[in-house]
Amino acid sequence: MWKIGGLEIDGRVVLGPMSGYTTPAYRDFMKPFGVALSYTEMVSDMGCIFGMKTTREFIEFGDNHPTGVQLFGSSPENLVKAAEYALKVNPRIAFVDINMGCPVHKVNRTGAGCVLMKEPKKCGDIVRALKASVDVPVTAKIRLGWSSGTVNFRNVISELESAGADAICIHPRTREEQYGGKPHYDLVEGIGKEMSVPLIISGNIYLLDDAIEAVRSTRAEGVMVARGGIGNPFLCTQIDRYFRTGERLPNPNVHQQVVWCKQLSDAVIEELGTDAAMRRLRSYVPHFIAGCYRSRESRNRLTQIDSRESLFELLDEIDSRMGSRVINNDGRREESEF
Ligand SMILES: Cc1cc2nc3c(=O)[nH]c(=O)nc-3n(C[C@H](O)[C@H](O)[C@H](O)COP(=O)(O)O)c2cc1C
Repeated sequence: MWKIGGLEIDGRVVLGPMSGYTTPAYRDFMKPFGVALSYTEMVSDMGCIFGMKTTREFIEFGDNHPTGVQLFGSSPENLVKAAEYALKVNPRIAFVDINMGCPVHKVNRTGAGCVLMKEPKKCGDIVRALKASVDVPVTAKIRLGWSSGTVNFRNVISELESAGADAICIHPRTREEQYGGKPHYDLVEGIGKEMSVPLIISGNIYLLDDAIEAVRSTRAEGVMVARGGIGNPFLCTQIDRYFRTGERLPNPNVHQQVVWCKQLSDAVIEELGTDAAMRRLRSYVPHFIAGCYRSRESRNRLTQIDSRESLFELLDEIDSRMGSRVINNDGRREESEF
């Protein structure tokens, strides 16, 4: 058990925010696998301020506790207004997180996301303003810095700490590196021990051993599962179980993956309706059989599904052909299609 402000977190596994992926249905699906803490995908401060319908949909969710809202924006005033709006719309929001790591040009151009790290004082001002206005914990998600020449996370962390941040998540890549290459765990070694608030560590968590090593080397309280959890929800169970008991659970087989894939598919269909769900599911379902020998052709077919019926038929065929095969996730990093 660890704490973010007054919020008790029972477990190490944190489900990473991923826009376009971590919808309420996805978060609800992942939770029973051992997720202790979730975030909404990033939500625009201006979308909140203008009360836009699509923004509201990101903020509303059911009883998946604790879940925080992640906001992106560039000014303390607007982020405060957005947080107040979000908490009014959804009193279940357990904490407010500020995105200071998004590398997307469209976002950075507006002064939001990772570009904030160019102004450490402003990062602190944002957190300070939020702490003065909302009753829930306030956290931030950062990278190493903007570029290899401007690695300034220590500076940003100390501004965030003195502004009263309740936890900080670090993704040890620069904005320049986007999501590619290996995260620089060497640069954040032991950082959790030096920080006055809990650390959540994020970056290439694809296997149980990645999580063990990330927590050991950084001394983080929480370990974030992001891309590695897509199509591999059992990774959360493996990490959760290991940190509770030391037990290493074996990887699931294809049959288990098919059952979980169907569960997620039905949840997404209920959330979005069939047509939109099919488009969305094409980016989840092939991952369920990644790491399965000679599954490329089936994976290609899974990217073309257009109805629940065709999806379930294909999944049943995969199950009957290779249901007992155990998934091997070692190659996922190399195969990552994001
Ligand atoms: C498609 C995609 C969308 C993402 N969206 C967000 C987001 O909305 N907010 C955020 O803080 N991070 C976002 N991230 C970053 C992840 O939360 C995570 O920090 C990053 O992917 C590193 O972890 P990984 O290498 O284990 O995937 C996104 C990542 C991907 C791949």
